[in-house]
Parts: sequence; C-alpha cells; structure tokens
Amino acid sequence: MARDIGIIGIGTMGAALALNIAENGFGVAAFDRDSAAVQGLADGAGKLAGLITGCADLAEFVAALARPRNIILLVPAGAIVDAVIADLRPHLDADDLIIDMGNANFRNTITRAEALPEAGLRFLGVGVSGGAAGARRGPSIMAGGDPLAWDRVAPIFTAIAAQYDGTACATYMGPGGAGHFVKTVHNGIEYADMQMIAEAYGLMRDGLGMAAAEIGAVFDRWNGGKLASYLIEISGKVAAAIDPDTGTPMLDVILDRAGQKGTGRWTAIEALKLGAPATTIEAAVAARGLSSRLPERARGEALFGRAAGSDFGALGTDDLLADLESALLAGKIACYAQGFGLLAAASEEFEWALPLADVARVWRAGCIIRSDMLDDMAAALAAAPGQNLMFAPDFAAHLKAHHTGLRRVVAAAALSGNPAPALSSALSYFDTMRTERGTANMIQGQRDFFGAHSFGRLDRAGNHHGPWAQD
Ligand code: 6PG
Repeated sequence: MARDIGIIGIGTMGAALALNIAENGFGVAAFDRDSAAVQGLADGAGKLAGLITGCADLAEFVAALARPRNIILLVPAGAIVDAVIADLRPHLDADDLIIDMGNANFRNTITRAEALPEAGLRFLGVGVSGGAAGARRGPSIMAGGDPLAWDRVAPIFTAIAAQYDGTACATYMGPGGAGHFVKTVHNGIEYADMQMIAEAYGLMRDGLGMAAAEIGAVFDRWNGGKLASYLIEISGKVAAAIDPDTGTPMLDVILDRAGQKGTGRWTAIEALKLGAPATTIEAAVAARGLSSRLPERARGEALFGRAAGSDFGALGTDDLLADLESALLAGKIACYAQGFGLLAAASEEFEWALPLADVARVWRAGCIIRSDMLDDMAAALAAAPGQNLMFAPDFAAHLKAHHTGLRRVVAAAALSGNPAPALSSALSYFDTMRTERGTANMIQGQRDFFGAHSFGRLDRAGNHHGPWAQD
C-alpha cells in the first residue's frame, strides 16, 4: 500500500520519527544510503513493521509513496540537504513536498523555500526538538514554509507531537525560514539555560565544596518548585550518576569542554544582525567557545593561580543555595525576554507574523527547554505580544522578588572568582532595562567629538553638535 510519508535519513532521529509516525497509524517509507540503517529500522519495528517500507534506493522510495508525495529529510544540515534534494528532484512531480526537519540555518531554508516552488515542488522547513526520545515519543514541532503544504501534513505532525494539556506541540510559525528560525532561537535559549545551570553547579562545586550527589539533590529539589523543567531535571540526574568504570561521580570525569553544532551561535549572530541583543545567549555561546580552549585555560591557571574559591563574604551556604534558585529564576526570565524580543525583531524584519504566544505554547512540552513556566509565558505574550516579557505582571513580580538573589549570586561569583558570564549578563540586561537615564549620552558625546556624528538633546528636538571644536 502506498505510504503516507517518507523519510530520507534513518539515523537515530530518523528511525525514532519513523516509529512514532507508524505508531500513530500512518504508513512510512524509509531510505538511507546506509542500507544497514534501513534494515535496522525494519528489524526493530516489531508490531509496527507492517506500516514501514524499507527502500533500497531513491526510485523504490519515491514509488512507495502516495501522491502527491510527502518526503521528510533528516540528514545533516548544510550541503548534504541540497545534495539530497538534487538527487530527489528527477524522481518528483508537481505538488510533491520536501520537508527539511534537520537543524538547518534558516537563511538556507529561505533560499530553498524560494527555489523549490519554481520547480513546481512544495517545501517546508520544520524545526524539531526533543532529541531521540522526543522524536520517538512526541517532539515539539515548529513548521515554516508553504502554508498549504503544512495543512496537508498537519494531521501527521499533530498526531506525533508532544501534547500539553491536550494541545499538540506542533504549529505553523510562518512562511520561509520562520520554523527553522524559531528552532534556532529555541536552541539559543537552550544554550543559555544550560550555561546558567552550569554556573550554579560551579558555585556549588567550587564555591561551597559540594559533592556531585549533593548538587544533584539540590537540582532535584529545585525541580519541585518554580524552576521545574526538563533541563533542571536532567541536571539532577547527570549530577547523581556514577561512572560504572571508576565508581566515581560521572560528572567528575567528564571533560569540561562543551561541543556545539552551531544553532546557538546562529542565534547570537542573528541577534547582533537584527540589533535585538540576546546578551545571555551570547554569553552562553562565548562560554562554550572558551570551554574548548582547555590548554589556554591551563596556562592561565599556571600563570595567575586558580581564583575559583569560596570567599562569599557574609553569605552562608543556605543563603547562597536560596539565592542560586532565585538567580536561575530571574536569569531565566531575562533570557527568555531576550529570546522573545529576538523573535519579535525577526518577525518584523522578515515579515513572518510569528505567533509569539504559540511559540511559547509549542515549547511547553516535547522540546529540550520545556517547562511549565512557558505556559505562563504564553499567557503573558497573548495578553501583550509586543511587550518585553520582564514587564508582564507575573514575571515583573517574580523579578521583583528574585533579582536581589541574582545580584548576590553575581556579586559572590565575582568576589570568589567563579565565572558566571550568563547570570552576570542577565543581571546587566535587567538593570539596563530598568534604567531610563543610561550612559549612552557619553558615547554620543564621544561620537560627536571625534566624528561630528551629532546627538539628540533632552531639552529640544533635532540633531545637535557639542561645543568641542576640532582643529
Ligand atoms: C533539541 C536539541 C537538538 C540537539 C542540538 C544540540 O532541541 O532537540 O537542541 O537540536 O541536541 O543539536 O546542539 P549543540 O550540539 O550545539 O549543543
């Protein structure tokens, strides 16, 4: 029987997605250049095997699909996507749909979304979050591109997506690269959430001298409160795990050098390009970069000595732990405010009309940054879509209650020499955004002094120059 949808790229994600789609009653055709991967999917499909057709080549794959065809690509982002599309094209007919579900750069998605319709084909760029477990049991799905194409495949995607209170976490975000951009910002926020958690871990480990298991218990406790989220939950599990080889905490033998595939960096780049600063995300991306400079950091420690210590002044252990919880809460609100501000700026620039409240809704379940707090964010964004999230009544109240804790943590980190770049940037963002009279008047004075760039005045309209005469 002709299959409802096909998947090219049967890696971990592709295989998990194929099983999820089949489990929801849709027929799937599967192809991978590595025939062992296709065989592995068929072998492991169990009672779902009848809904999955493993294909040996592209011609067989295309022939297995109902027309018009729906084809998911789950191959590494970049040139490989274009190469697979080029291989596929001779086999396709008008109205066939290609769905790129990799972590594509949204600018490439925009190009593809323009090029493929010229050949009579349809295209969707779809961001998927939740890792392999999400792909199998219910991911969060952020779609962009051809709206009619989305209508065609929405029944499949809403069926396989995670559910939050009975609502599927699968939404059409807008044309062109909108879906992949939303996924990119998701990952930028993911980087920032992870970095802030890592900074809290560092203060507990190096500042308070706590063992990994004790730190894990603190994360577990926080997960029962306002910070409840997937990333806090897994941080507790990571901290509690024991290395089977050495019997010591797993965390203590993991090299402190963070990998990155690029999506966090793209978020920071786009934030800079759009003039929509996402300073906490930028700090998190930079921290990953610096983490990889291990030999250089070793030289720095040999030269200056290790600063990281436990000199927290008047702050005791319980105080610091309470403040750390506040810091993560306040930092998270500041970071999400930046992320949604970036989404709003991109929406305007690219004319996507991004549904910001729906973005928050789609992130409530299935994805890596999932948390109940996103439900409150969705409500705040629905009430006032253009407003900085920090100013929404509920979040303003949280910030009023918790920013002092963030301030004490950042101060303690600075005094004790424990780096906390993301938390520090979140505090600076908060302080900047609550200061009406800032200090850029000095920058304007300097610019006018050396370049006659002119400035605005507080007391009258127009462009003005200062009394500084240049020879
Ligand atoms: C997700 C993840 C997923 C993946 C990233 C991680 O939302 O499911 O973000 O997309 O884990 O590739 O990116 P880094 O390798 O850059 O940390």
